Amino acid sequence: MASTPAALPGWLRVPDDPNALAPRVWPEGAHRDDRGRLVVGGVDSVELAARFGTPLYVLDEADARARAGRIRAAFEAAAASVGTDVTVYYAGKAFLSGEIVRWMIEAGLSIDVCTGGELAVALAAGAPPARIGFHGNNKSIAEIERAVTAGVGTIILDSELELERVADAAARAGRVQRVRLRVNSGVHASTHEFLATAHEDQKFGVSLERAVELGTRIRAHASLDLLGLHCHIGSQIFDSAGFAESAERLLAAHAELARVAPVPELNLGGGFGIAYTAADDPVPIEQIALGIAEAVASGCRANGVPVPKLAFEPGRSIIGPAGVTLYTVGMIKPVPIEGGWRHYVSVDGGMSDNVRTALYGADYSARIASRVSEAPPALVRVAGKHCESGDVVVDAEYLPHDVGPGDLLAVAATGAYCWSLSNNYNHVPRPPVVAVRDGAARVIVRGETEADLLARDAGLDASATAEGAPA
Ligand code: LLP
Repeated sequence: MASTPAALPGWLRVPDDPNALAPRVWPEGAHRDDRGRLVVGGVDSVELAARFGTPLYVLDEADARARAGRIRAAFEAAAASVGTDVTVYYAGKAFLSGEIVRWMIEAGLSIDVCTGGELAVALAAGAPPARIGFHGNNKSIAEIERAVTAGVGTIILDSELELERVADAAARAGRVQRVRLRVNSGVHASTHEFLATAHEDQKFGVSLERAVELGTRIRAHASLDLLGLHCHIGSQIFDSAGFAESAERLLAAHAELARVAPVPELNLGGGFGIAYTAADDPVPIEQIALGIAEAVASGCRANGVPVPKLAFEPGRSIIGPAGVTLYTVGMIKPVPIEGGWRHYVSVDGGMSDNVRTALYGADYSARIASRVSEAPPALVRVAGKHCESGDVVVDAEYLPHDVGPGDLLAVAATGAYCWSLSNNYNHVPRPPVVAVRDGAARVIVRGETEADLLARDAGLDASATAEGAPA
């Protein structure tokens, strides 16, 4: 099955070796053993598939912990270089489970949650409440009360109405709640570019023009303590320019508030990009962190206020590169396209375990995990098993042209926003999550079974099994 490229993404290159593992894309230390099998965290991927089945989410624990530590150290060094300190929150929306919370707490990070469910996981995992930041544009009164009584460190206020609700809940609980005010800076960023607008047309936060008024309103409540402003400009951002622009805009409001009373912190959110393909080349986090810290420091000088303590909320950049998803190849289908062929490689998962390709047109990289092949590269599209033509896991990739049924396929950089966005479309059970480290593997989130799916269906006989109703 020879293939000729046609209608391909501009970044895609025919690889010299379609077995090669691009170092930026795969977890640290991922390699092929002497049989050519992919090894992650010291564990053979073929053994993982045999033991836990496919699809399977695999998380390299040492990689995730090391990235958390490196990112924290990068921001600490950057903050120190401008004479301040920093708190780094792990954004749990990227992937949250009991184990992950513990890894992050042990790495010295705090935890950012954005729903009652995420808060429940963080608390149940033993995260100190004071190290939790609670986000969300539509927190219910029950969620607010729960957060306040649990003693969460900060609540990020997203609207005027919420400001009053949190003030009331804190007053009722006899507490003073530390809060941040989420502001729209008008800067939107993704990957290499950012767009700066005067006004926002989106659901999060309050407009920059109202930041001082609402900050003052927060200060008027004895039950609230204003820590500072918060802004999150987007996700999968490759450099510091958008953050710097946003910080500059926020600092005018920050300074106006700081002239009345100290504003101890400034939180610039998350969004640091990772490599999904060999063509992605994010600026190292140390450099981004320095760029942001310098922008904040120069903005503070310009506004005549002290440099506040900083805070950040990375999610993807910590957990994304640590994850790999394993699938078993089923059907192969060559389809003629302009100028050649595209080989559809169908796998036993799809948009239920990774909806990002269908939802955002995200790019991913894949490799045969169970062997290396001498066959020349062929253009493939890795498709799932769902009843929808947009059910694609990897839109465009080159794999050895003999890729076929029974091969184990690995998709890289699936640690963030895959498990957390997973779903049961077409009644496909969600796969387990396995952590690998030092040659050992353990389940950190159990996979669903068909029985799990049937059990919630009130229209089914509870004593029925997946094999059918009792006679
Ligand atoms: N802080 C706030 C307030 C956020 O809204 C987010 C992400 C983060 C931090 C973490 O951003 P990160 O460092 O992970 O980029 N589902 C999309 C991404 C949605 C991001 C939502 N907010 C995706 O899969 O690309």
